[in-house]
Amino acid sequence: MITFEDVTKEYEQGVKAIDDVSLEVEDGNIVILIGPSGCGKTTLLRMVNQLETITGGSILIDGKNVGDMKTIEMRRNIGYVIQSNGLFPNMTIEDNVVVVPNLLGWDRKRKTDRYNYLMDLIGLNPDEFKKRYPHELSGGQQQRIGVARALAADPPLMLMDEPFGALDPIIRNKLQEEFLQIQKELKKTILFVSHDIDEAVKMGDKIALLREGRVMQYDKPAILLNKPKNDFVSEFVGQDRVLKSMSLYDIKDLEKEVDLAPVKRNGKETKTIEENTSLRNAISMLLNQEADNIVITDDSGKEKGSVTLELIEKFLQLELRQKSS
Ligand SMILES: Nc1ncnc2c1ncn2[C@@H]1O[C@H](COP(=O)(O)OP(=O)(O)O)[C@@H](O)[C@H]1O
Ligand SMILES: [Mg+2]
Repeated sequence: MITFEDVTKEYEQGVKAIDDVSLEVEDGNIVILIGPSGCGKTTLLRMVNQLETITGGSILIDGKNVGDMKTIEMRRNIGYVIQSNGLFPNMTIEDNVVVVPNLLGWDRKRKTDRYNYLMDLIGLNPDEFKKRYPHELSGGQQQRIGVARALAADPPLMLMDEPFGALDPIIRNKLQEEFLQIQKELKKTILFVSHDIDEAVKMGDKIALLREGRVMQYDKPAILLNKPKNDFVSEFVGQDRVLKSMSLYDIKDLEKEVDLAPVKRNGKETKTIEENTSLRNAISMLLNQEADNIVITDDSGKEKGSVTLELIEKFLQLELRQKSS
């Protein structure tokens, strides 16, 4: 667990980049730090691995003050990924991946095994890339190597500063998906900086929205989207925030909370969708009047009932009540 206690950062000319931030990040969670440019996301992240000094309050990892940690301990325990991947241009891909194991004095066999394992994990062929150099790789491949390198010493904690920010939307989406798959297996504790609310909603177990160095709201994505604490939050997450939150759920989730409506055949238009369809897709069908009765089928194609706007609204209210309690 990472604990931020009344953390403040003042740069020289009295600029308060971080102003009295208190947060807890639970083990195995991805917490997104988001907010407008200059709100202090990078500063907050870099204080965790002491690339910036802390000028007030404290940051604890599992109860231990980061200020008391030694460099070598830091490197083993904290992986760091940045937007411009930070690979060493004159080192081969293999050497780049095992930078930290090298510093930690691992033997050759252990390093090779680790390199092979990590390349498989990120979906790049270990032998094919071993002797290549960073500039010979695409942007997406370089970011994958950046992730592999951060994971090299198997740190429990990862700091990621807009790791996919420089990539085009399609590659970026792919890397987000891949990374979530990896995270399912590794269950790292991750602080992830983003300026993109869609990325935050998709990746985050919780989201901290910052403004001028202060936390405006720290909540699960569905809560942030549906119960913004103030105008700044609701403006930041956008007009379509309620619709966005619907991408977090599918029909199966809804069925756990409410009974499906009976199927009506007298409507203008009837559409059939499967249970794993997101509520966002269902709701946009209803709002765009593609259908006024959406029929839900199970895996075998059997009709189970139908979904209406009222039903989705009821589900959301129940869900939010549970989550915020
Ligand atoms: N080294 C520095 N010296 C002085 N001010 C800085 C320094 N680094 C960042 N700042 C200021 O601190 C604030 C937060 O910056 P930063 O953490 O980079 O924001 P973000 O990552 O959210 O864009 C900004 O006002 C920025 O100008
Ligand atoms: Mg930044």
